[in-house]
Amino acid sequence: QLSTVSDALKGRFVSGDAVQVRGWLRSKRDSKAGISFLAIHDGSCFDAIQAVVPNTLDNYQSELLKLSTGCAVIVCGELVESQGKGQSLEIQATAVEVVGWVDNAESYPIAKKRHSFEYLRTQAHLRPRTNTFGAITRLRTTLANAIHNYFYRDGFHWINTPIITASDCEGAGELFRVSTLDQVNLSAGGAKLDYSQDFFGKETFLTVSGQLEVEAYCLAMSKVYTFGPTFRAENSNTSRHLAEFWMVEPEVAFANLDDNADLAEGLLQHVFTRVLEECEDDMAFFQQRIDNTVIDRLRSVIDNRFERMEYSEAIRILENCGESFEYPVAWGVDLASEHERYLAEKHVGRPVVLMNYPKDIKAFYMRLNDDEKTVAAMDVLAPGIGEIIGGSQREERLSVLDERMDEHLREELWWYRDLRRYGSVPHAGFGLGFERLLNYVSGMDNVRDAIPFPRTPGNAAF
Ligand code: 4AD
Ligand code: MG
Repeated sequence: QLSTVSDALKGRFVSGDAVQVRGWLRSKRDSKAGISFLAIHDGSCFDAIQAVVPNTLDNYQSELLKLSTGCAVIVCGELVESQGKGQSLEIQATAVEVVGWVDNAESYPIAKKRHSFEYLRTQAHLRPRTNTFGAITRLRTTLANAIHNYFYRDGFHWINTPIITASDCEGAGELFRVSTLDQVNLSAGGAKLDYSQDFFGKETFLTVSGQLEVEAYCLAMSKVYTFGPTFRAENSNTSRHLAEFWMVEPEVAFANLDDNADLAEGLLQHVFTRVLEECEDDMAFFQQRIDNTVIDRLRSVIDNRFERMEYSEAIRILENCGESFEYPVAWGVDLASEHERYLAEKHVGRPVVLMNYPKDIKAFYMRLNDDEKTVAAMDVLAPGIGEIIGGSQREERLSVLDERMDEHLREELWWYRDLRRYGSVPHAGFGLGFERLLNYVSGMDNVRDAIPFPRTPGNAAF
């Protein structure tokens, strides 16, 4: 019977069952007694399954002795109790078919030894064959599934907002422009481009956030979210920034900033619970080999409410904490990652929601507070990461919104203004960086290791 490694090891099949397992060789050991031991992985679970291969098989000398790490095989045999410690079941092989050879074992880029994560980034096409990236991939699947499930259960609609857009949601100018090959050739030939002649009739970009479009659906469907790739041409070479990353952006009508913080809390508690239930082996690996605090920190989010703090209070704490920061702190400054991490790691010790930031450091769409100095913004800051979520209550009053947009923006976002003219209501939402979330859950340090093929300044090799 065809079986995944997980089915064979995790109880769907039992000792005595005849199984067929298909996968890749993680390692091989040949004993003097004329028996070979293959460790085979297929992505279905953390563990590889061991196949015990006797030299009585037809192709033992001609093929099986030549197997090396990375080869693809199909193993048929009987599931038996393992003699070795640590493994419950193994396959007593009766046939091993070699499906794909490794043409040169010495040059195979993923040896059995441990590689640095930096090296593995240069082998992004093969790194999913390692323990670590197999575990991250399963975690990514479970997290995405849990996020969709949380929203689905709660009556949210998943809105597929456009990737090609004409607007700069965050107003930070970190846009990748979309152009056709014809246009590129034209401009290379020295022609001056007239973007009104562009494919779309206007200049377009890869989206930095689906928020503006998802707001339109929010003001019709009440509870919505978008979850997809977003793009930022920010030239920051840090462990927290990617040029292409995935973002989860819920938006809720008739909601204020407190409701927004509650939603962030509920979402994270749900997905962390699911991860602990469904990725036990993978989480045990991260706990043991990457960061021995990861499981505790998920539990602490599940068991506690987030600490909520005013921006002004955070500034007071940072000014008086006696820590020497690289960037100075004063009311009105945007917090640097060192400040965010101090608050989350040292002051609170778990995620903290900072609220009500100065309006001058935040985007135009955030709702102006009664003090007219701050906006109803919130960032969730997490230990080890810093900002993991950024959101706000939105400005639903047209006249106030107009004050915060220049003429060009008012023209460009005529449709966004329309939403404030026709049945506008208070509403709020946030963006959760999916790769930062994955790092928080796994304890991995770099977002480049949380996405299959990372895009960063100077790197789109794959
Ligand atoms: O704070 P940001 O820029 O917020 C927005 O884009 C809002 N429009 C979201 C909304 O309210 N619907 O980004 C949200 C989150 C950040 O907190 C961070 O986790 C992640 O997206 N993020 C990045 N992740 C990886 N690489 C980058 N370059 C990122 N920029 C932001
Ligand atoms: Mg932000």
